[in-house]
Amino acid sequence: MKVLLLGSGAREHSIAWKLRQSPRLSRLWAAPGSDAISGLAEIARVNALDPASVAAFCRENAVDLLFVGPEAPLEAGVADAARAAGIKVFGPSREAARLETSKAFAKSFMSRHRVPTARSLVAHSAADAKAAAREFAGSCAVKADGLAAGKGVVVCGSLAEAEAAADALSATPAGARLVVEERLEGPELTAMLLVDGKNWSALPLSRDHKRLLDGDAGPNTGGMGALSPAPIAPADWKRARSEIFDRTLAGLRADGLDYRGALYVGLMMTADGPRVIEYNARLGDPETQTVLPLLDADLLTLAERCADGRLGEGPIPAAAGACVGVTLASPGYPDSPRAGVDIDLSAVDGMPGVMIFHAGTRKTDGGWRAVGGRVLTVVGRGGDLAAARSRAYEAVAKVRAPGLLWRSDIAAATASSGV
Ligand code: AMP
Ligand code: GLY
Repeated sequence: MKVLLLGSGAREHSIAWKLRQSPRLSRLWAAPGSDAISGLAEIARVNALDPASVAAFCRENAVDLLFVGPEAPLEAGVADAARAAGIKVFGPSREAARLETSKAFAKSFMSRHRVPTARSLVAHSAADAKAAAREFAGSCAVKADGLAAGKGVVVCGSLAEAEAAADALSATPAGARLVVEERLEGPELTAMLLVDGKNWSALPLSRDHKRLLDGDAGPNTGGMGALSPAPIAPADWKRARSEIFDRTLAGLRADGLDYRGALYVGLMMTADGPRVIEYNARLGDPETQTVLPLLDADLLTLAERCADGRLGEGPIPAAAGACVGVTLASPGYPDSPRAGVDIDLSAVDGMPGVMIFHAGTRKTDGGWRAVGGRVLTVVGRGGDLAAARSRAYEAVAKVRAPGLLWRSDIAAATASSGV
């Protein structure tokens, strides 16, 4: 099969790596791709955000499957255009992707279909949002409605903080509307579902580490590290399946939303059971980099089955063991990353049980140079989370990249507590 993969991050690097393992793959293109991805795929000269040109590329090159990595092409309507041109697509329609691209849409979807989530109010101005925050006595999360690259949410402990967040977020392009919701407490968990329009099947559970600094301190980021599989109590898993995943799928069908692709469900395990914190209309980053290596199945076939509406029921085979991924980021990340750190990976190349997935890097004569905020995901694999974590940090220590930042406690709490 011929496949076009859209995206350029470490998530897409890991998707390209996994697709390459499929005996059914005959040709792989990526757009825009990256220097690292170009080791696995041909770079396609096509604008990933332009539906007409993506559809034309697919037709001209007889692409069998379009695999959409990030959310921006979904919001641009790329999946719809390619489907209309008769191409199989792994990625939801623009309308269905509103589960991610509009938080107000997602909240109203969950309320209509009785999917457990935090109580919330939609505000059309900073003043409305402040009034909403008073309903929750300041203990709330203030969220920009639209896409904000992980910077659209402020979790608040006081009314003063919530008021400041309402002012700040309402001044951003994504913040024409704000969602204010009650603050929930509990461990977070990522469930990534493959969806074929009718059925869902869960990839191994994972956990992101969103805060910049050790001990979950500092600002929210795109994700500083991840682990998989994340443990879950059997009772919570049962409730998540029936109250969240089944109801979400039934809701999509009832609303006539064409959802064929990955559905990311961000969960919080509260004392009252699992609650949805957010939906994303794609795979997670950096979670995917820790989940795909554990997948004992052909990703190309799974994606094709989603696109065709014939995924079927049942779990997706996963190998034993665990993965831990550590994000290496440029100095100044997330607010004002300073690109330019030189990276020497020669000491980690070929290390057993280690995979390096590139986000913002460029190839240089002797090695790599950091060009983005998040630069690498260093993934270690082992028999359990503790072994995977040691392997990942052994590799991180061998990456020569003076100035790159990383957290030293990814997976530490989960590996030691099992929660
Ligand atoms: P989101 O972009 O909606 O996933 O929010 C980013 C992060 O903010 C989440 O991963 C949580 O850590 C936190 N968060 C979001 N909503 C809430 C909430 N209602 N209560 C507590 N924390 C939240
Ligand atoms: N890791 C969070 C996300 O992909 O949105």
